[in-house]
Order: sequence, then structure tokens, then C-alpha cells
Amino acid sequence: MIFIPDIPRLYSDRAGKMRKSVIRELLKVTQDPEIISFAGGLPNPDSFPIKDLEGVIDYVMETHGKTALQYGTTQGLTELREILAERAYKDGMDVSADDIMIVSGSQQALDTVGKVFLNPGDTAICGLPTYLGGVNAFRSYESNLEGIPLDGEGLRVDLLEERIKEMLKEDITPKFIYVIPTFQNPAGVIMPEKRRKQLVDIANEYDLVIVEDDPYGKLRFDTPHIRPIKSFDDEGRVIYMSTFSKILSPGFRLAWTIASPELARKMITCKQALDLCTNTFTQFIAAEFMKRGSLDLHIMKICELYKPKRDIMMDAMQRYFPEGYTCYKPKGGMFAWVTLPKGIDTETMFLDAIKEKVAYVHGKAFHVDGGGERSMRLNFSYSSNEQIEKGMERLGNVIKSKLQKEKPVL
Ligand SMILES: Cc1ncc(COP(=O)(O)O)c(C=O)c1O
Repeated sequence: MIFIPDIPRLYSDRAGKMRKSVIRELLKVTQDPEIISFAGGLPNPDSFPIKDLEGVIDYVMETHGKTALQYGTTQGLTELREILAERAYKDGMDVSADDIMIVSGSQQALDTVGKVFLNPGDTAICGLPTYLGGVNAFRSYESNLEGIPLDGEGLRVDLLEERIKEMLKEDITPKFIYVIPTFQNPAGVIMPEKRRKQLVDIANEYDLVIVEDDPYGKLRFDTPHIRPIKSFDDEGRVIYMSTFSKILSPGFRLAWTIASPELARKMITCKQALDLCTNTFTQFIAAEFMKRGSLDLHIMKICELYKPKRDIMMDAMQRYFPEGYTCYKPKGGMFAWVTLPKGIDTETMFLDAIKEKVAYVHGKAFHVDGGGERSMRLNFSYSSNEQIEKGMERLGNVIKSKLQKEKPVL
């Protein structure tokens, strides 16, 4: 007789409550090569600077092989942190290499933030909609997430302040406010400078922490550089994070945080238990790539590749989608966020879309309050220009036939 073990009964409460990422699950469905997928958040592989990196990798092996293949410090390679501090300074953040921690993807930084701040039952604030990976990381610490709606200028700080006041009356201290202020995932919007300052003022007034997640800020097509929220932070209450995933390679698993020395120390201690150190080899490669001045040139190339893709998607949307949809034209990043006319549920429509060989992520996946049923996120960076045109035509047809079916019979 074979004994079937009942391992799940031994799981922690925490593990029992963990949910699979809807997007990761969707990506499995979209593996079919005939499906045109607007679902993932993937950079275009044609953008990877394979030739340039070959030269850098050879150089790193020849000159630093013995250190690059060794364990590194938990905080990360000093040279890389120094270069990132210089770049942060140019972006308006007055920070030193000591304030920077190299992490294995910003996803690890989000998890670390959760680990540092959240006890079971604690509350954190995020946008409606917001990045699902952030939600999953914070929820894994058994916390509650309170959503604040976004408009065309990002998180509604007026509503945020009202909500904070109500929460404090209920004896709830929100542990932090999670924002993606530039080319927000999924909504694509930019929070203007005035609102960034207001957000910092609110955090100062109520003594709260802001978590600023900025993976897309450099993917700018037709809008000037905007200073990060961190640059307005005089009191050391903003944790900034960015990543090489969208500007060089997600396979590197390389990102960084910027935080005040005390916070940085706490996060480093947390990271020690997570992975001891981030991939030393890719840290050396990224540092050398930037020293050669290649990163900025490369970012320009990525923007040149993505801008026409954004335009093709927006044009096709106008041609193929039925009247009554809304979509803010993203000025950078990788996503367009569409809200469809009443009567459509993008979650149930997904199966129709898959039948027609096109995929997206439904809006509910990004709403901690269960809303977003009429919305969807469309990625424009990954597909070829031809695929975008074709996929949008397919999606337009799916939406039109869904609307037709939903129409009340008179
Ligand atoms: C807003 C946001 N934060 C964090 C991440 C995670 O990025 P990384 O690859 O650096 O872990 C992503 C990835 O799509 C993202 O969109």
C-alpha cells in the first residue's frame, strides 16, 4: 500500500493564503505561438544588446573573473552602487552609494519591504489599479491592502488624505503607500510634480512611508524627464526602487533600492536571509556596460523601438475598437490601459479572446477591491508591429461581438 502524505496540513497559515499570480497563469495559456499576446510585461527580445554584452562579458571574465564568480556582499558591488548613485543624482536624488542596495529584481525589493513593515493584519495603501506583483508580495505577509483610485494624473492624493484620516480614526496606521508614479503599471499615467510633492507632504504630515516603484521612468517617448518622488523627500521616508529589467535584461535579475541609511540597513539584514547576495556576475556586467556609456544609448534605442509600437496600437485601437471605450495614450512605458463600454466583463471575455488567438490581462487582476471588470491592460513592447496591428483587429472583433451579444433585446 502506498501512503499518500498530507503535506498541505503542515503549511504555515501564510503559505496557505498565498495566491498564484493571475498574470503568470495567463502567460501559460498564451504560450501557443499562434496567440498574439498583449498579456505579459515582457521587454522586446530584439532590444537585448547581445553583441555589446558579449564584449562586456569577455572583458569581465578576463579582468574580474575571480571576483565576478564569487559571492558578493549583501548590499551589492560598490562600483555598481557608485554608478547608480551618480545616475540618481542626475535624476534629482541627492544620495550616496551607501543608500543603495542591489537586489535580485525589484520584485525582491517589494518582498523585502513587506517583510520589513508588515505584520499579519497590517494595512498598506496602493493604487486602484496597481501592479499585481506588489499586491502578491504584500499579501504574502498577511496584510490588508487599501486601494485609492487613480485618475489621469496617478493616485488621487485628495482621496488618499481623506482615507488616511478615516483609517487613523479607526485606529489603523497604514504602514506605507505603494506608488508607481511614472508610466504606471497598468494605467500608463504619470503623476505630475505638483502631486508628487503633495504626496510627500501627506506622508510627512501623517508620518508615513512611501514606496516608489520606478521600473519604467526611463522609457520616455514624448514627455520631459520628471523628478522622482524621492527627490522631494527631505525626511528619509521614501523608499525608491528601480530595475535593469526593462532597460537592459530581466534575465539579469538586477535592480536597486534607495533608502535612508537606517532603512537601508534594515533591508540589507532582511536580504541576508533571502539570498545572501544578488548575482555578482550580472552586477559586474551592468557596471561595465554603464561605464562604457552604453546604457543611455541603449535606452534611446529601446524608446525608438517602442514608440512606434505604442502608436500602432493606439491607431489600431481607434480603427478596430467600437465606440465608447476610453484609453489614456501612454507617453512611455510598456502598457495601454483600456476601459470598455458598460456590459462587458473583460475576465469572461478572455476566453473568447483566446479562441480568436489574442490575449490581454483583465482589469480585475490589478484591483485590490475586486473592481476593474470593464478594463484591460495591453502590452505594446513585446509583439512585432505586424502582430500589434493583427492582434488589435482580432481584439476589436471580439469586443464588438461581445457587445452585440450583451445588447438587451427590445
Ligand atoms: C511596477 C513593477 N514593479 C516591479 C516589477 C518587477 O520587476 P523586476 O523584474 O525588477 O523584478 C515589475 C515588473 O513588471 C513592475 O511592473
